[in-house]
Amino acid sequence: PQDKITLRNGYGVPCIGFGTWKMPDGEVGIDAVHQALANGYRHIDTAAAYDNEETVGKALATSGLTREELFVTTKVWNTDRGYEPTLKAFEESRKKLHLDYVDLYLIHWPAAQGAEDDWQRTNQETWRALETLYLDGQVRAIGTSNFKPHHLEPLMGAAEILPMVNQIELHPGCNQEATRDFCNRNDIVVEAWSPLGAGRVLENQLLIDIAASYGCTVAQLCIRWCLQRRAIPLPKSTDAGRISENARVFWFDITDEDLQRIDELDPLGQSGLDPDTIDF
Ligand code: A2P
Repeated sequence: PQDKITLRNGYGVPCIGFGTWKMPDGEVGIDAVHQALANGYRHIDTAAAYDNEETVGKALATSGLTREELFVTTKVWNTDRGYEPTLKAFEESRKKLHLDYVDLYLIHWPAAQGAEDDWQRTNQETWRALETLYLDGQVRAIGTSNFKPHHLEPLMGAAEILPMVNQIELHPGCNQEATRDFCNRNDIVVEAWSPLGAGRVLENQLLIDIAASYGCTVAQLCIRWCLQRRAIPLPKSTDAGRISENARVFWFDITDEDLQRIDELDPLGQSGLDPDTIDF
């Protein structure tokens, strides 16, 4: 999981990240992050809205690893959109994480409701704060999360520095072809949140059959599918065995034919968190 994908600016991202959405605070969370690090993960994905940055920070500070070995992502939440609020929110996140810089900072959710000009301007101003942090050396890379092409286009039209990453819900049954094509064409690396569909894909018979033919688990098949579709999976678990299982996906290759069968899976209970209809 430490092999790196290179972003447009030359910065490397470990190709599997450890997701922390819904990871509990305190000892359980610290243990989970330590388990991930012990299993070779070096890339930890958190967010101000996950309410666990302090736990992640404590786990990293006590990991025995150097700062350069780690790759840490966090995100600015909807309540802190705009130039000044975002700079302030970043500083709070950075302190909670006990870091002097953050590897990747993302706009968590597109401002996508309200008058057309307003949401576009809001995204652009939030983005300007990310550009400032990047140019100032406080973050090594910047990007978006949950942006579709029609959110990315106006942001990119006004940007000085183009987004390097877009993190989206991506798993079998939610293959996000249009957004992935747009990102690939624009040299934006895709990251996959809920690569296991938050557990919803594990009972799917087609996936069970394909996984059996490789001798892997369905979770491993989903993670491998993301990697072979050029996305960085961010699986999450608080269980030591499953944390380890999710990192061991480098001993098999999914054939082109099977990749396509997985691509074509009918929509499988998505989270329903559609950035076009939900703005929290
Ligand atoms: P747990 O923390 O008990 O392992 P996603 O990353 O798609 O959102 O999925 C996360 C959910 O899937 C969590 O409920 C997690 O529970 C579960 N999970 C994570 N890894 C595995 C695995 N290898 N096998 C089965 N369930 C898993």
